[in-house]
Amino acid sequence: MTRPQHSAGVQIIEVPLGARAYAVRIGPGVRDRLADLVRDLGARRAAVVSARPEEETPDPGVAALRVALRDGEEHKTPAAVARLCGAFADFGLTRDDVVVSCGGGTTTDTVGLAAALYHRGVPVIHLPTTLLAQVDASVGGKTAVNLPQGKNLVGAYWQPAAVLCDTDYLRTLPEREWRNGYGEIARCHFIGAENLRELPVAEQIAASVRLKASVVAADERDTGRRHILNYGHTLGHALERATDFTLRHGEGVAIGTVFAGRLAGALGRIGPRRVAEHEQVVRSYGLPVALPAGLDPAVLLPLMRLDKKATSGLGFVLDGPDGVELVRDVPETEVARTLAGMPRAELP
Ligand code: GLY
Repeated sequence: MTRPQHSAGVQIIEVPLGARAYAVRIGPGVRDRLADLVRDLGARRAAVVSARPEEETPDPGVAALRVALRDGEEHKTPAAVARLCGAFADFGLTRDDVVVSCGGGTTTDTVGLAAALYHRGVPVIHLPTTLLAQVDASVGGKTAVNLPQGKNLVGAYWQPAAVLCDTDYLRTLPEREWRNGYGEIARCHFIGAENLRELPVAEQIAASVRLKASVVAADERDTGRRHILNYGHTLGHALERATDFTLRHGEGVAIGTVFAGRLAGALGRIGPRRVAEHEQVVRSYGLPVALPAGLDPAVLLPLMRLDKKATSGLGFVLDGPDGVELVRDVPETEVARTLAGMPRAELP
């Protein structure tokens, strides 16, 4: 995969949510702003929960509790949240203090939920360290952990006080993690972003965050418009579960995006050129477009019924004559037929 170059300079994108508005700073070295932000909040203590080595986790400039957490879906559990809240209590963290998360999307999700629940809510600053977390997970206030029954089934809306997307963290990102983030960037092409493929990575992050900020500002609680951010996610989440998370989130979303195009085509919502564009865009990011070879598509249907958007039957966010929207009660036979027609390949 040829990767866009880093660009210098810091971009600041406002998430305009009235009393809960905050800025997302994107660029090299922005982690150094942490102590200023903590001071501006008036916090006297900080609980810094990090999946990165201590030398890569910035100093919050106040008395700090440091807690190590591991990135990974298997660590995103109610037990992890309880452990964090216990550590905050032992440290004497108050509602006037601050929690800091530093890590990938599973870390910002878990720490964000602990911050939402502890003392019924303490401010949290996110320092996302992966492309996936910078373009999506750390922005918008969705926090959650997984249950054995499904992904992100227990969560809360809790907007951060600030987000610092330090692009220097990406310099050592493994190839698989790039793909994980690019799955979310690729789906932006179908929900309102311009062509992001050739932009430097900081611009890709900024464009994705700008798009997300506008959607979240219009529908913070995911009652309508925000559904579009879940483009490709109904199948994506099911694939993650069906492969025991061997398939990464962004890879699942990439395959789910191709599927969403094909399903919209099968339902007569878009024409063949638009269907083909889905596969072209996803491929152009070096992302998978095929279902895992050994996977029985029948296992995916019950998993997709668990999707939070599907209050009855199967629900998908699909392109169509009126743009992208949530389509409920999609006939199961059409979903099964479209799944059966998907290309197959070995897992990446
Ligand atoms: N990741 C989808 C959302 O934040 O709504």
